Amino acid sequence: MKRVTYISRYAKSMSSEELKELGDLAAEKNRELGVTGVLMASGGLFYQVIEGPGEIIDELYATIERDGRHTDLLLLDSEDGVKARRFPDWSMGLVNLDAASNVRLFPLKAMIKAVFDQQILVGNMIWAIERTVRYEMKGSAEQDPEGEAGPSG
Ligand SMILES: Cc1cc2nc3c(=O)[nH]c(=O)nc-3n(C[C@H](O)[C@H](O)[C@H](O)COP(=O)(O)O)c2cc1C
Repeated sequence: MKRVTYISRYAKSMSSEELKELGDLAAEKNRELGVTGVLMASGGLFYQVIEGPGEIIDELYATIERDGRHTDLLLLDSEDGVKARRFPDWSMGLVNLDAASNVRLFPLKAMIKAVFDQQILVGNMIWAIERTVRYEMKGSAEQDPEGEAGPSG
């Protein structure tokens, strides 16, 4: 089995009804596919875990990636050879943290935001490291061209 965890940003704001609809449709399809997991919505970000047969997860992740309702997908973890499901009872449990009244869930919002921000920072650093090494390898006499596109995000 395989488990994929990613984080993404809403393409545009979504009402709790729209989120519920998304979650219900995902749960219905996942039930047929033998996929389980959780989808958290928090402060304009999604945090999702999907787990199930490897090929099915690869295909589903590719479908989700193309979905116009979100953008800036950042893959946090992709685990092969998973022995046990972490969410065996949830074909897709939607946790809308923006509507949650359980105060014990509140710290999750800060953590999800921190994970997203951290991933953006890592992406920017990777870009800077690679850019630096490329110019250093070319020779220090060469100048950086002006206006090279910066990191995305
Ligand atoms: C954040 C997010 C999470 C999603 N999660 C699932 C999911 O777990 N299972 C699923 O079938 N579709 C999920 N979808 C919807 C898919 O992207 C796609 O719309 C749906 O699977 C229908 O695809 P189809 O039209 O090819 O059947 C998700 C969409 C978004 C934006």
